[in-house]
Amino acid sequence: MSLIERALERAAQERRKNESPLAISREVFTLSTEYQEMDSRISAMMQDRTNAFEQYKVLRTMILNANQQNGERTFLITSACMGEGKTTTSVNLAISIAQGLQETALLIDCDLRNPQVHKMLGLRKNSVGLANFLRNEVDFSQALIETSIPNLSLMPAGPIPPNPSELINSRKMTLLLQEVKERYPNQFIIIDSPPISQFTDASILSLKVDGVLLVARAGKTRMVAMESAIAKLKKAHLMGVVLNNINSPGPGYYYY
Ligand SMILES: Nc1ncnc2c1ncn2[C@@H]1O[C@H](COP(=O)(O)OP(=O)(O)OP(=O)(O)O)[C@@H](O)[C@H]1O
Ligand SMILES: [Mg+2]
Repeated sequence: MSLIERALERAAQERRKNESPLAISREVFTLSTEYQEMDSRISAMMQDRTNAFEQYKVLRTMILNANQQNGERTFLITSACMGEGKTTTSVNLAISIAQGLQETALLIDCDLRNPQVHKMLGLRKNSVGLANFLRNEVDFSQALIETSIPNLSLMPAGPIPPNPSELINSRKMTLLLQEVKERYPNQFIIIDSPPISQFTDASILSLKVDGVLLVARAGKTRMVAMESAIAKLKKAHLMGVVLNNINSPGPGYYYY
């Protein structure tokens, strides 16, 4: 090996040493041009100062306070049962954070069973995302999308895998959340998830994040389902309950 080759090899070794184990870098995110119409309620929220807009801002303030007090920056959104508003809350909360002056938001669709975040944000395809990253098929930056909303990045779920719980339970998932948090001090990470009463995914994730928000749907979520969901979050930091009221334009928030 020549001197130059040796020097190049040494430099490559140094680079490898300094690289994050997950190859998380600040590189330009994959830009997607596959947008279709955004969910109408979300675009409405972004355009004007509706009641919903203001109420998501209240939720955002609560998240920012938790950050200021305890450095919390990774938040899981879950609910007891299906269709209670987890995805709606995750997307709106992430948008609301991204609209702040200093903060950026990364929305991760950890509902690998019924991924909907990409659709709500108007993204046609979900061909690459978290599932591919966790299976070592793509790098971090390849699984990310810079959305059409400034300061909001999205890691879609990717194609539905046969083993969602194993992927969510993996060490790589833990490392992903730890590293993203460490590397981007102004970034808030909002995680959508499947219903906690049906699948273990949200319980597993609840121990990997700083805080959990439990969504309940007014007039639908039963008390017994809520109690059982809260019991499943016993070891997590349950920050509060978001009351998603289909008859009013925005959520209510209750400290737990
Ligand atoms: N506050 C609301 N006002 C009107 N429609 C709503 C509201 N919240 C949710 N929805 C509608 O209810 C349906 C379920 O909401 P969403 O997808 O957010 O629930 P989810 O808990 O994520 O469901 P899943 O368990 O299937 O993932 C969607 O069609 C959504 O558009
Ligand atoms: Mg959902």
